[in-house]
Formats: sequence, structure tokens, C-alpha cells
Amino acid sequence: MHSITKINYRYLLLSPRRWILRLLLISLAYFAFTRLMEIRMTSGTGMSLGNVLRLSKRVSTSSEGGRIKRDDWCTEAEYLDGEWLKRDEDVTLMRLREIYQYTNEGEFKCMARDLPRGSEPPEGNPDHYVRILETAQYEWKPKSGCRKHQWDAWNFAKFCLRSRGGCSLVGDSLADQIYRAVYYTMVTKHDSLFDINRSIDRVYNITVNRNHPLAPRLAREAGISEERFARPVLNYWREHHLLHRSELDGIFKGVWYYEPWVNGPTYFQNGWIHDRSWWYELWSDLLAKPIQLIERPDGSLPIEETSTISFNSAPHWTAIELWPSHSFRLVKNEDLLRGWIGAFTRVLEKVTAAAQEYDVLAWWRSTVPGHPECWQYLAPENNRTDHFSTQNPNADYFNWNLYPIMDQYASSRLGYNPSESNQYLRPTRFYMRYLDLWSISVKRPDAHLNPTIDCSHYCLPGVPQEWLGLVWHLTVSSARNQDYDEPSSLTKWH
Ligand SMILES: *[C@@H]1O[C@H](CO)[C@@H](O)[C@H](O)[C@H]1NC(C)=O
Ligand SMILES: *[C@@H]1O[C@H](CO)[C@@H](O)[C@H](O)[C@H]1NC(C)=O
Ligand SMILES: *[C@@H]1O[C@H](CO)[C@@H](O)[C@H](O)[C@H]1NC(C)=O
Repeated sequence: MHSITKINYRYLLLSPRRWILRLLLISLAYFAFTRLMEIRMTSGTGMSLGNVLRLSKRVSTSSEGGRIKRDDWCTEAEYLDGEWLKRDEDVTLMRLREIYQYTNEGEFKCMARDLPRGSEPPEGNPDHYVRILETAQYEWKPKSGCRKHQWDAWNFAKFCLRSRGGCSLVGDSLADQIYRAVYYTMVTKHDSLFDINRSIDRVYNITVNRNHPLAPRLAREAGISEERFARPVLNYWREHHLLHRSELDGIFKGVWYYEPWVNGPTYFQNGWIHDRSWWYELWSDLLAKPIQLIERPDGSLPIEETSTISFNSAPHWTAIELWPSHSFRLVKNEDLLRGWIGAFTRVLEKVTAAAQEYDVLAWWRSTVPGHPECWQYLAPENNRTDHFSTQNPNADYFNWNLYPIMDQYASSRLGYNPSESNQYLRPTRFYMRYLDLWSISVKRPDAHLNPTIDCSHYCLPGVPQEWLGLVWHLTVSSARNQDYDEPSSLTKWH
């Protein structure tokens, strides 16, 4: 053995030509392997050879400094390296809906910075959105000047309809803000192409109204049969902890002062914890039903898209919500975090199980910061990376100081590193990926809904549109079909 190694070593050293040849072979093999991985990650399972070839051709069209890029679309990394700047045009009340693509169903919300507590003006009242023309003037602009794939409800519907499960959101009132960003650009007050379905069971969805004159055209352009309209474009399951009672009991088992939810004391009911966690059950039902793709007007057959789902859970991991009042003072942050990590792990397990059978992609979205004492901020702060109050850095609201710890955990566990390609997501081990909304949001301490009492939610329209913008940009970048930047059929529909 020893002599062989020695010979090989000498051989390598003494024969520069072979040495170069070997290096060349190794790098070729490495290149082929990584390219294959990329294609696999972009395309999932149901991909024909023709599509793989087409994709690999597309991927290799241009290469710049080792990065694979196609024209000037932003990579994920470039997109995140941006700042909030004034929009090219002045935002007025007359132009607000058009600029943010809000239909007449969309509500404006952004209350005065110094509103007396308990005097919240009702929705629709101009005092309910008195600050909107301050906060809506800004737009997230990548510093490199790269282009974003523009949000468009029609193209979004095409994408979701081409997948079995559609697009899904699971989470709390901050997920609700993303849901509203979608809903307010899709659903109109009268004769809407899209229907909104609200439910007392915290199951919400957006479906296509089959009787609308544009519905057949949407089916044709998406290349789907109209039967697909029986299932939602978008699902939104409102679940604060992403788990049901017995799962919560399971993850807190090791905490000595924890009192189980199942058969627990009745005074322990605060209305936030539920017997049932719907998302996995309902999502699995949808995934199990195949869809039928048909030729588009230009004769091409669309490719089935991945069913996507997005999760977040953080604000409701507080002692007050999870513990009875006589013992919540005992609760330590480590114990809350232990429970939260348990929830994250359960979600990852379920996503992984779904991915064994179906073509799915999940996003674990980062937290979005609450900014303590947010009444003090009058404009975006592009140099900001933390949520702490400028005037009083020790101000500590709810569990907001845990957010960066949770994000750090999720991003490192999922191997997050923003992609430097504008055509595929970085390959990772998991079918759940980390989505960074923190960097964009932390620079907007000025844009919270009601600074006297609510420095957690954001004014609408505004920051949540940019959250949606990033998700949509990444969706289009990594999509299998190439028609999501086509002009919308919805331009004159408000
Ligand atoms: C959604 O709501 C519309 C009208 O509100 C209704 O016609 C439609 O059947 C509902 N769809 C589902 C899937 O419940
Ligand atoms: C869509 O929402 C309606 C109303 O909540 C509900 O009855 C229906 O089951 C939902 N559809 C799905 C597939 O979840
Ligand atoms: C960050 O920007 C704000 C104004 O936007 C400024 O007051 C502050 O001094 C800046 N901080 C640093 C560290 O540059």
C-alpha cells in the first residue's frame, strides 16, 4: 500500500501533463454534478428529458464571474441587498390603488403616530389610513439596479393553478398580512374573477369564479382544464403554532412545570390553541389529486408546477398563551424556544414526508420585526439591521427579542445562503427553504400600523407588498414555465 501511494504521489508530482489532465477531469465531473443537482432542484421529479435539455441550455446561456445569470433579473442575493427609496412617481390617494395594484376591495390601513389609546377609527374612515401617504412613498430597490419579476395576480393564478395543491400560506396575523396583499390585488367588490372564501374554522381560500367571462381565458392561458377551478388558487390556514394540542403537549413534555393541553384545566382555554391543526390534512388531500394540463393557445403544453406552501410561527410563542395564568411567571425563554424548535421540527418532518410522495416546496419565512416604541420613526432607516428602539435600546416588547434567535436557528438548520443565480434556488438538503423577510422589513420602523399600540403589523398597502414581491420573484426565477412575465389580462379590471 505504502509504495503504491508513494508511486502515485511521485507520478502526480513528476508528470505535470497528467496532473493537469486529472484536474481537468475532476473539475469537469464536479461541474456536471453540480449542474445536475441544480436541474434536479429546479425541476423536481416530473420532468421529461426534453425539458431537462431545454433547461440546461437556458441555464448555460451566460455566465458572469462564475455565477450563472440570464440578463438583468435579480439573483436572490442581489434582491436582498437593497434599500427603501422614494418611488419614481409621487403616491397620491388617487394613484394609490393603481400603484399597489389594489382592487376596490382593498382596505387602506395606517393610523396616526399619536393616536390616543382606545380611539381606533373604523376601517374606511380616512383617519384609519391617515399616514398612508407617508409610508407608501417608498419602494424596495436592489442596489445593483437589477430587475424584479413584477407581481401580477393573473400570472400568479396561472402558476398556482398549474400545481396540485396551489399556493398555500400557514400562520398567524402576519401571514394574514401577506394573504391580504394577495387578496386585495385579486378579489374585486363586484363580479370578481376570484372568489374569497372565509370560514369560521380558520380555513380561507381564493378560488376562480367559473361564471366570470375571463375564467375560460385564464384556463386556456394556464393550460389547465376547468375542473382545476374546483380547487383553490390560494389556501390560507390560520394556525398560530402550526400544531394541535397533543403535538404541543409532546414538544413540551420535558418541561417540569408544563401543564398539558389535552384534558388540561378548563381555565387554561384562551382561544388560541386548537384541537385540530388543519394544514397538513387539507394540503395532503389536495396534493393527492392529479391535475390535467392541456395545450395552450400557442400549442405548447405547460409543465406542472411545484405545490408551494409558506410557514411562520413566532409571535404566539409567549408564556401568556401557552401557560395558565398562575404559572406563566415561571416560564423561561429557553423553554419557549424548546417548544418552538419542536414545532419547527414537526413542520419539517411533515414537509419531508409530503415530499416523498408529491412535488412540493415549502418556505420557512423569517420573522418580520416588531420595532419597540415605533412612534419615534418618521422615515425608513436604510442603515438599520436590528429592531431595538433608538431612544431606549432596552425596551423589550412581548417576545420580540426572541425573533433573531429563532431566525438564526431556522436559517442555519436549513442551510440558508441566498442564491447567486437568477434562475434557480440554491440546492439544499431539504424541501423546506428559508425565506428572508427580516432584512427588508427591519429598515421600516416607520411603517407600522398603529404606533401607539401596534408596532408589529405593517401599514397596508406597503411593506407586505414587498414581502409578496420577494416570494413572487423567487417563484418566477425558479419556475418551470417561462410565461410569468407576460402582460396581464387584468390591467383594466378595477
Ligand atoms: C368560494 O366562494 C364563492 C362565493 O363566495 C362560492 O361560489 C364558491 O363555491 C366557494 N368555493 C369553495 C371552494 O368553497
Ligand atoms: C375553501 O374554503 C371554503 C370555505 O371555508 C371551504 O368550505 C372549503 O373546504 C375550502 N376548500 C379547501 C380545498 O380547503
Ligand atoms: C442611520 O440613519 C439614521 C437616519 O436615517 C441616522 O440618524 C443614524 O445616525 C444612522 N446611523 C448610523 C450608525 O449610521
